[in-house]
Amino acid sequence: MRLNITVLPGDGVGPEVTREAVRVLRTVLDLYSCEVSFEEHTIGGTAIRQFGTPLPEETTRACMQSQAVLLGAVGGPEFDSLPAGQRPESGLLALRQALGGYANLRPAIAYDAIADCSPLRPEIIKGANVLIVRELLGGIYFAGPRGFESGASPSAYNTMRYSETEIERVAHIAFQQARMRHRKVTSVDKANVLETSQLWRKTVTRVSREYPEIKLEHMYVDSCAMRLITHPGSFDVILTENLFGDILSDEAAVISGSLGMLASATVGGKVDLYEPVHGSAPDIAGRGIANPLGAIASAAMLLRHSARLEQAARDIEDAITEVLDAGHRTADLSPGSGRSGDLAQRGRGRRVVSTAEMGALVESAVADVTDRRRAYHAV
Ligand code: IPM
Ligand code: MN
Repeated sequence: MRLNITVLPGDGVGPEVTREAVRVLRTVLDLYSCEVSFEEHTIGGTAIRQFGTPLPEETTRACMQSQAVLLGAVGGPEFDSLPAGQRPESGLLALRQALGGYANLRPAIAYDAIADCSPLRPEIIKGANVLIVRELLGGIYFAGPRGFESGASPSAYNTMRYSETEIERVAHIAFQQARMRHRKVTSVDKANVLETSQLWRKTVTRVSREYPEIKLEHMYVDSCAMRLITHPGSFDVILTENLFGDILSDEAAVISGSLGMLASATVGGKVDLYEPVHGSAPDIAGRGIANPLGAIASAAMLLRHSARLEQAARDIEDAITEVLDAGHRTADLSPGSGRSGDLAQRGRGRRVVSTAEMGALVESAVADVTDRRRAYHAV
């Protein structure tokens, strides 16, 4: 098999973390005798600086011709004053539309080794493993009319709109994911106020009849925001619309302890897109201290969904767990980053490593994991 992947490092810490994800991908694909080629292109602020647009045509063309796209992050403070359509973020939104993936899968996992990085008590997050399925191409992000209106008191407006078809297709993805997990879907909406949510609830309920083995519950988004913090272990798959999913997925990062840990896969379109959930983090960019594990875990998702190499994906995920178990931490995971408490205790046995060191650690762990598993199966 031969894989061709377009890499879009983007802005801020994007290039630093994607470099490590590519390094791990190269190694694991080599272990699986899979040929791979990477082609780098620009997006976001980097593209604005170089080509005057956040999504150059050449980038879109390259992405459309590849089997998967691995993206770092976009955005930066220097572009904050630009109008919405010219900002780095609009490049990402246009790319998502071009690729066509409407289901954004965002897992949030509690890793035992870094439980102390979470502001939540360890007994609350223990064993939590939530998959947020966020609708990615509809809702208030893309619908019109939108804009500004001048007047005595200038106003601005956006439109939240969903069609049944848009809801159905993402609901199917959520139920299919739940089938491979703990068979529960929590559909999140604001049906007590919004028409879009009423249609959402009705449509999801109808789709659920095709999945009798899956338990479906409905929850209002405000209530879900609270339960994610108080009872994260009570969720399996959360299915929700674009904006709610954007907000809830950042919130879900407290389960893992750092936004730097979270990965995502956008599936269902012509070409699937993989990106860490974190942003460009301009405050720490270029210092080699960003956490590459979200990007590396996104690479694992790429192997699972785009390359159908489930075992290779698991090898990467196991390698991440091993590296954390061994006490290696990037700065965001270092003692003091989570709940207050006995810092000396939390610091014990921990070693703070750079972005590149973390990448190298996962790379060598993945080789070990694969070797060990193969040796085990050979006897
Ligand atoms: C995310 C980001 C993006 C979003 C921004 C950068 C446009 O916050 O992927 O969650 O809102 O979707
Ligand atoms: Mn977001």
